[in-house]
Amino acid sequence: MPKVHVFERDKDIEFKCRAGSNLRKVLLEHKVQLYAGLHRFVNCRGMGLCGSCLVRVESNPAGLTDRTPTEESKLFGSNPHIRLACQAEVCGDIEISTGV
Ligand code: FES
Repeated sequence: MPKVHVFERDKDIEFKCRAGSNLRKVLLEHKVQLYAGLHRFVNCRGMGLCGSCLVRVESNPAGLTDRTPTEESKLFGSNPHIRLACQAEVCGDIEISTGV
């Protein structure tokens, strides 16, 4: 089972999840504050439309699946370490930070 380490503003969280798990889903299950401000209440709920579930990959980008076409269209030209959590699946150990 892959290990996910999350650097949040004021704490770190580490947990394991099943390979193939949706990153947004497991972050929310582990009470990670993924969304900022108003986006906590208003977001596209994982459809890849709002762009508010950004995370930064701090190590091992191969621990997430490649960008989906939906994600690529939203993040075109951005740093490849920036990802939409709702579009990424966990496939290996990964370190990410929120508050991007
Ligand atoms: S939740 Fe809207 S783009 Fe990820």
